[in-house]
Amino acid sequence: MSENRRIIIFDTTLRDGEQSPGASMNLREKLEIAQALDDLGVDVIEAGFPIASPGDFEAVGEIAQTIHGATICGLARCNDRDIDRAWEALKNASHPRIHVFLATSAIHREFKLKMNQEEIVERAVAGVTRALNYCDDVEFSPEDAARTERDFLCRVVEAAIDAGATTVNIPDTVGYAIPEQMGQVIATLVDRVPNIDKAVISVHCHNDLGLAVANSLAAVQNGASQIECTINGIGERAGNCSLEEAVMTLRTRHDVYQCETGITTQRLVPTSRLVSSITGLHVQRNKAVVGRNAFAHEAGIHQDGMLKERTTYEIMCPEDVGFAKTDLVLGKHSGRAALADRARALGYHLTGEQLQTVFDEFKRLADKKKEIYDGDISAIIDQQLHGLPDAEWTLVNYHVQSRSDQAPLVRLTLRRGDEELTAESDRGDGPIDAAFWACEKITGVEVVCKDFQARSATIGRDALGEASIEVEHKGRTYRGRGVSTDTVEATVLALLNAVNRIAMAK
Ligand code: KIV
Ligand code: ZN
Repeated sequence: MSENRRIIIFDTTLRDGEQSPGASMNLREKLEIAQALDDLGVDVIEAGFPIASPGDFEAVGEIAQTIHGATICGLARCNDRDIDRAWEALKNASHPRIHVFLATSAIHREFKLKMNQEEIVERAVAGVTRALNYCDDVEFSPEDAARTERDFLCRVVEAAIDAGATTVNIPDTVGYAIPEQMGQVIATLVDRVPNIDKAVISVHCHNDLGLAVANSLAAVQNGASQIECTINGIGERAGNCSLEEAVMTLRTRHDVYQCETGITTQRLVPTSRLVSSITGLHVQRNKAVVGRNAFAHEAGIHQDGMLKERTTYEIMCPEDVGFAKTDLVLGKHSGRAALADRARALGYHLTGEQLQTVFDEFKRLADKKKEIYDGDISAIIDQQLHGLPDAEWTLVNYHVQSRSDQAPLVRLTLRRGDEELTAESDRGDGPIDAAFWACEKITGVEVVCKDFQARSATIGRDALGEASIEVEHKGRTYRGRGVSTDTVEATVLALLNAVNRIAMAK
């Protein structure tokens, strides 16, 4: 294989990533992520599945009109309606791609599609042909390829390329493969499909066994030139191949892979933070590359080694993935320029207006808290920039009374438009439960709490508290996030954020 192959990074955060329960995003949020992905340098952005909902259609359309660097891709099943709809959304893109998929494994053929092999090949060819009427960049995915009989997979892939597919993507839809096997699937295609050199081979791995990155890299070693991945590895069930891990492995182990990508790696941490803040899906502390502890050295022996020579215990530079060099502390005497500087170092591009809003909030926080750390600044910016600007309900005030020997009492006042509504609740096991009841009395929105977490954004007892909440409403999951120096207030804000998302979805 030639040296320094260029690997195409196909990001599907906005499509497969959005399929994580509760991670649905509104149009503004999707546009913000699409812009961040373009700044990160991804080659292809899969912006959505246009037939799936009017929201998906609109998002793909807007992203197609707005982003002109990356190729914009829309997903479609192999049928005319899906493909026509995908094109309708993509038609204004500078570089459009239609991605058609059809399941090929025996299990899917028999139980889901009730189609035989002949019919599958015919349908795949028809799908690719129809998509090619609209644009010359067409990707075909045999869904559940990793569990498809090898002979049949070769046959379908050959037919799709013959029909004109420019990329053939090999998904491990259910995350069943192991690296050796994924490598063999790709090697078999390279070996046995006569027209394989006419298309780019891509790989799309799910993480059910925690092997999505390893499987994707095994595919690359055997001839795949495109990796489909998501920021923070979010996605259906256990998620997809994590973009940051795949990209940093290719870069750090260039000696093995001899491949390069177009990713500006210094944007990895800011992009990870943005996606986490918008989706409400926290990044675990020990997550490779972008987790808070990814470069934290605790053991004395390691710290000693690091002081003598960084590479004793560090294989990547934190700054290379976008961690700020130092955690500078700001305080109430810090000015707008210092804040702007810090925000830039943390990877945020703030407009003048945004900086002013963030600065006002920073000053309010500095009155309550002596030292302001990077984590506080990120929390303020995320809250100010990624809140819901058209939120139906806002918090006016709350009152909580809680004692160990008495039922809690919560009085909540919310605003909707010009109207202020107050409710009291003494139901529930504690103040949070009582706050749920009071909120339900006012808004009429019934939710079941599925998960609730509170954590501090930085160190110290006066640190900003971040609350995140996952609720279920009419069978769908919604997330909410709130930030305050007061944890109860952060929780009420997180609940309201989720309720506002429900209102928006309606
Ligand atoms: O996992 C999968 O098979 C998919 C396809 C639509 C590519 O997401
Ligand atoms: Zn998938």
